[in-house]
Amino acid sequence: MGSFKRRRCYSFLAVSFVIFSCLCLANANGIHRKKSSVEYSRKEQSSCNVYQGNWVSDNSYPLYNSSTCPFIRKEFDCQKYGRPDHLYLKYRWQPSNCHLPRFNGQHFLKRFKGKKIAFIGDSVSLNHWQSLICMLHAATPNSSIVRQELNKSISAVTFQDYNVSVMLFHSLYLVDIDEEKIGRVLKLNSIRNGDLWNNIDVLVFNTWLWWYRRGPKQQWDYVQVDGKILKDIDRMTAFRTALTTWAQWVDSDVDTNITKVIFQGISPSHYNGTDWNQPGVRNCLREMIPFNGSVYPIGLPEAAYVVKEVISSIKKPVHLLDITALSQLRKDAHPSSYNGFKGMDCTHWCVAGLPDTWNELLYAALIS
Ligand SMILES: *[C@@H]1O[C@H](CO)[C@@H](O)[C@H](O)[C@H]1NC(C)=O
Ligand SMILES: *[C@@H]1O[C@H](CO)[C@@H](O)[C@H](O)[C@H]1NC(C)=O
Ligand SMILES: *[C@@H]1O[C@H](CO)[C@@H](O)[C@H](O)[C@H]1NC(C)=O
Ligand SMILES: *[C@@H]1O[C@H](CO)[C@@H](O)[C@H](O)[C@H]1NC(C)=O
Ligand SMILES: *[C@@H]1O[C@H](CO)[C@@H](O)[C@H](O)[C@H]1NC(C)=O
Ligand SMILES: *[C@@H]1O[C@H](CO)[C@@H](O)[C@H](O)[C@H]1NC(C)=O
Ligand SMILES: *[C@@H]1O[C@H](CO)[C@@H](O)[C@H](O)[C@H]1NC(C)=O
Repeated sequence: MGSFKRRRCYSFLAVSFVIFSCLCLANANGIHRKKSSVEYSRKEQSSCNVYQGNWVSDNSYPLYNSSTCPFIRKEFDCQKYGRPDHLYLKYRWQPSNCHLPRFNGQHFLKRFKGKKIAFIGDSVSLNHWQSLICMLHAATPNSSIVRQELNKSISAVTFQDYNVSVMLFHSLYLVDIDEEKIGRVLKLNSIRNGDLWNNIDVLVFNTWLWWYRRGPKQQWDYVQVDGKILKDIDRMTAFRTALTTWAQWVDSDVDTNITKVIFQGISPSHYNGTDWNQPGVRNCLREMIPFNGSVYPIGLPEAAYVVKEVISSIKKPVHLLDITALSQLRKDAHPSSYNGFKGMDCTHWCVAGLPDTWNELLYAALIS
């Protein structure tokens, strides 16, 4: 499990209000695209697993030019930091038995007029959030966009012409960490932040990166479960317990008639070439094409099964944004060393890039 070593914590900048009033000349999509010949329909969606398929080359991608998006952090802005190849931007996810709808940012903004959408989780949520705001910005480059960092853990980008807020709640474990006399206690059965998320229209959750961290990167000193305080616990058990707490919160507290609940599946990393039949390879630096095939050699990570099991136990409707398998194939889509901190990152993803596909799938799930 060497892949846990390189993960980073992104802390937000000090509280600040920045007003973007963009009058960019960029064309809405950068590139003219023709309409998909196959119309997307509700029937098609329900009879088809959109997460099963393969990557196909498509010159009409990427969906936007990353240099015209004013929101990309230095960790994800691969083109700006010198990534020489472009092929990784030119793949489209093709489900086996149906077509994904073309992402239409204006339609998205109209559809969610007056609503709030929140990404809740670790830096993978930040990655996902940045991609969506770039996709929406590209659809309405001239509209006024307000960016707020409400505090250390909450940011929002509001598309004012549509009154759509796309928010980010930074939460590494979803469940609580409390400062107590003995130190920081990770409380696997408690999810007090749920109160903050309750008045939001779309919630997109994710947590995984931090569960196996130890030493100085571990964010807690003790773990509390079923009333007992422990020094440590089997990490997969901890992950499962926390997800179950979250699942019970969904069942007891979320009004799913109003709020759509999405859980984003495990985002894979690429530090061990054995995983993709290239033993000896220790990172994603020279990876410029996806894994050839639709079945990744090592199969799904154990955590992905835990996510599926817990989600299937929820009585209310919750959509699993099941991006694990399709992302495993994209060893080419990480920043590697093309980022603003010069570290090797085969955990997060370039923006523009793979998270745009996650958002196309999110869009499909939301409009179906
Ligand atoms: C992206 O935009 C930049 C600056 O506006 C421009 O120089 C570059 O050619 C554009 N790239 C593409 C692929 O259109
Ligand atoms: C924008 O939407 C929020 C709900 O998300 C609502 O409370 C507010 O009144 C709206 N503002 C405008 C100017 O329509
Ligand atoms: C944005 O504004 C510029 C300058 O006013 C204009 O040329 C351009 O067509 C506008 N773009 C869109 C997508 O409305
Ligand atoms: C951020 O603001 C929310 C809502 O006001 C609050 O509950 C939360 O504790 C704050 N977080 C931090 C880190 O200050
Ligand atoms: C949600 O909608 C269903 C079907 O319309 C209804 O039976 C149920 O009572 C609603 N739940 C709440 C909490 O309003
Ligand atoms: C890569 O994975 C293989 C198979 O799981 C394992 O034997 C090997 O030790 C791993 N290599 C590293 C550097 O972690
Ligand atoms: C991918 O695999 C197919 C057959 O499985 C092969 O025909 C094709 O050449 C391969 N492509 C690359 C880029 O290796």
